[in-house]
Amino acid sequence: MTNSTVLYASQKPLMEFFTLENKNGLKLKFTNLGGIVSEIHVPDRDGNFADVTLGFETVEEYRDHNDAYFGALIGRYGNRIGSCKFSLDGEMFDGLFANDGVNHLHGGKVGFDKVVWETELVSGDGYMGAKLTYRSPDGEEGYPGNLVATVLYKLTDENEWVIEYEATTDKVTVFNPTNHAYFNLAGHDGDSPLGHEMLINAAFFTPTDEAGIPTGEINSVEGTDLDFRSARVYGATVNSEDSLISRLGGYDHNWILDKQYGEFGLAAVAYEAQSGREMKVYTSEPGVQFYAGNFLDGSLTGKGGKVYQKRDGFCLETQHFPNSPNYGHFPSTTLRPGEVFRSKTVYAFGVR
Ligand code: BGC
Repeated sequence: MTNSTVLYASQKPLMEFFTLENKNGLKLKFTNLGGIVSEIHVPDRDGNFADVTLGFETVEEYRDHNDAYFGALIGRYGNRIGSCKFSLDGEMFDGLFANDGVNHLHGGKVGFDKVVWETELVSGDGYMGAKLTYRSPDGEEGYPGNLVATVLYKLTDENEWVIEYEATTDKVTVFNPTNHAYFNLAGHDGDSPLGHEMLINAAFFTPTDEAGIPTGEINSVEGTDLDFRSARVYGATVNSEDSLISRLGGYDHNWILDKQYGEFGLAAVAYEAQSGREMKVYTSEPGVQFYAGNFLDGSLTGKGGKVYQKRDGFCLETQHFPNSPNYGHFPSTTLRPGEVFRSKTVYAFGVR
């Protein structure tokens, strides 16, 4: 485990990088700014390592223009809340920040991705990790309650990146954290991931309007280009003419995972045939947002001078469904005083 300070006392709090390494030589580098994971080095089937997540080299770049949310922790609410409002126990909260047209996206103006997290390196049986803590004050970004969020990152000797979220509040609130890492299993600067095979363990999804807000319907994937129950190359249908897909510019949907609510189970499997790298995603969350990087547009230059073009990375954001606070029939994102929010997601790296 190493860490290196990259900004100094004049710019408090300090923003630093930390690197976790497991016994197999896998490395995961992150910063306490937004808990952003900036590098993930994993082997191919011949043992050659590549960095499979998109990102920048410096914390200053993350601080100044991480509009794509590369590698970041997202909160308090991952994905969208329609019209920037919701009500809880009869009280209306309509002060969320509109950063996606009239809607609220990924926690607002200064979300979890833009704050510095208290970071403590930890280790245990078979892993090295870090515990990140952020105290979000009552009213921050329009959300009620003083919320204390902790996120445990672990890099295990089983080649897994484990994320464990916990939170408490002193007033009833909503909470739905995720991580927004972009992947390309050929390497962040390798061939386009549009050739990857994708499997999503879901028979249903939540259709949306043109702004990405769920309509409240729950539709079957059967017979649609959203059916990833069998692994297939997602690039073949990312430009689907199905208006439910084209209205969002490609895959950018919430799938409802085929497992019991709260159960820890498989969300998705991504596979890159040439390197043999495979990534399995497991979660205790009920949904996953498969976002195909449709809004990357060549305006961001990342590590090693790599210019990230449209769809050069994809995200598998485990989550509760977008806009849940406004739909009583979606699994609840309400967190009450006295309760402890707990959620776990694992990105497991392997080869075939
Ligand atoms: C959303 C996209 C959004 C992107 C921002 C994803 O989670 O679903 O619609 O553009 O985050 O990078």
